[in-house]
Amino acid sequence: MEILNTATALQARTEEWRRAGQRIGLVPTMGALHEGHLQLVRAAAQECEVVVVSVFVNPTQFNNPDDFRLYPRLPEADAELLAPAGCTALFLPSVEEMYPQSTVLQFSFGKLEQVMEGTHRPGHFNGVATVVSKLFHMSRPHRAYFGQKDLQQVTIVRQLIADLSFDLELVVFPTVREADGLAMSSRNRRLSAEARAVAPRLYAALQLAAQRSTARAVSPEEARQAALDYLAAEPAIEVEYLEVADARTLQPVTEWQETKTVALCLAAHLGGVRLIDNLVVTL
Ligand code: PAJ
Repeated sequence: MEILNTATALQARTEEWRRAGQRIGLVPTMGALHEGHLQLVRAAAQECEVVVVSVFVNPTQFNNPDDFRLYPRLPEADAELLAPAGCTALFLPSVEEMYPQSTVLQFSFGKLEQVMEGTHRPGHFNGVATVVSKLFHMSRPHRAYFGQKDLQQVTIVRQLIADLSFDLELVVFPTVREADGLAMSSRNRRLSAEARAVAPRLYAALQLAAQRSTARAVSPEEARQAALDYLAAEPAIEVEYLEVADARTLQPVTEWQETKTVALCLAAHLGGVRLIDNLVVTL
């Protein structure tokens, strides 16, 4: 596995591979890799001759300085996990390399970012769109792999690809979970033992809302409230939002007839760690 630290090196190598007729798969990450990331890498390795994984804790997408400061950084451990998973090149740039000057371009995704993560993390998707655009330009992948774990991010990236005519295929991979249902996340490392013990309730709450949704016995608001009530019983969990949304537009659903595919999405704080999860249900 090669380690590339500069945009110039990444551009030069991927250009060579492309000329040689090799398909390039890109897996953008912020590192502290877990099985969720590695499954994206393995999927890319099955479908592409070359797999580029970027590990970059992107400052522009953090609206909370503490979250950025405390975000786990484990580049050596990441490199050891990536080689056996089928990664050809690890792109590990510095902040100065990715942002030689501060950016002024602002992305706006309209209604797509006026809900959930967009409203609760101002500027977050501008930072995501900026860094993802840079990575697409630097590596010009044939395929880019993203996890459904970050459903709104996937929706925003799909819009970005369409609006800016990036010539690549977006591949979305299902959420990888721990045995007890907790969605894998780099932030799980920061959970205290107490918080880790109750964290699976987030997924259980989504499943509860999903059961109510598919039964259609109750309204979307009642399904939402059932999940909120379930979580309210655990004082260590502080819900930031819990939405019943159209999986395509991400807009809130008030009547089941409004959609065929519902996304149940939440963000919650557990002892200072912010986690998100979602479940997509076909009605
Ligand atoms: P990060 O949180 O490191 O996630 C990198 C990729 O792994 C994302 O596409 C994310 O959705 C996916 N992923 C994370 N946990 C997963 C899980 N449990 N199952 C399946 N996929 C999972 O998302 C980012 O980084 C950043 O915003 C990034 C796109 C790299 C831009 O900076």
